[in-house]
Amino acid sequence: MTSTPHPVIRPRRLRSTPALRRLVSETRLHPADLVLPVFVREGIGGPIPIASMPGVVQHSLDSVRAAVVEAAEAGVGGIMLFGVPEVRDATGTGATDPDGILNVATRVVRDEVGDAVVVQTDLCLDEFTDHGHCGVLDALGRVDNDATLERYAEMALVQAASGSQVLGLSGMMDGQTAAVRAALDDAGFLDTALLAYSAKYASAFYGPFRDAVDSQLQGDRRTYQLDPGNRREGLREALLDIEEGADVVMVKPAGSYLDVLADVSAASDVPVWAYQVSGEYAMVEAAAMHGWIDRRRAVAESVRGIRRAGADAVLTYWATELAGWIRNGDDA
Ligand code: PBG
Repeated sequence: MTSTPHPVIRPRRLRSTPALRRLVSETRLHPADLVLPVFVREGIGGPIPIASMPGVVQHSLDSVRAAVVEAAEAGVGGIMLFGVPEVRDATGTGATDPDGILNVATRVVRDEVGDAVVVQTDLCLDEFTDHGHCGVLDALGRVDNDATLERYAEMALVQAASGSQVLGLSGMMDGQTAAVRAALDDAGFLDTALLAYSAKYASAFYGPFRDAVDSQLQGDRRTYQLDPGNRREGLREALLDIEEGADVVMVKPAGSYLDVLADVSAASDVPVWAYQVSGEYAMVEAAAMHGWIDRRRAVAESVRGIRRAGADAVLTYWATELAGWIRNGDDA
């Protein structure tokens, strides 16, 4: 029996030269799609390296200025500020003190970069509480959802008044987006945007971050962060936040949750971001230090994968460096 001869279909044709590959590339990296997380610690005279995140530091109020200018000059789209206070207490009063480290840092950074880069702040209590939880505790030591919402509403007003343009709701309390939106609207902060960390999983990959903020946490966050096995629930949380008025929704961590990211991206009518977290950073850095991985290629590939899965923007500790490579054309 004779069959019609078929030509071999040759997808490789489009891979044959760098110029062709560049022309047909589906996912490009751009500095404006990167957000740099920045830590500012109270009461220090200069930057302090974070051992588990080589290349990342806790900034002083002085050293943070140069860091954000460098990011802005590299074309990075945004900055996400975290504060590391000197003193902590049960309700995290440092978070709502206008002279608390995060709020002071926000004013300093806004003063330095103005509108050249979007200044955003972490809105969560964990850095400010002496027990390290993301909320306040009830008499039995459980995280009290609705009492925490009141604290978040107070934080939102102070952060907005300090000049934060986007508030990063990272505490995973039910109703936090609606509660914070209502408080901001009542106070006239109509232009302050909300980034909801909607699908935030209880992840081992936050390990180095806990060093970065000197976390006081004993135990875990499994009563409020998502179970790593749950894909459908990640989408549900994102849809709830959109209903509550989130301007942007996020999936976090990124690399181990690309399926959730793709689901949220397909369903969302607001921008979808992803957070490439401290553990994802540390793994690549550690392997690269051993010479086990090509650092630069691994960094670019990991961020590109997150973009390909559906993230419009990526929070990454490599934001400034990666933006520099892209601008030099090395990673177009
Ligand atoms: C909570 C918060 C965490 C991170 C960002 N915001 C830590 C946590 O939930 O334990 C983790 C970021 C990272 O690991 O890079 N405020």
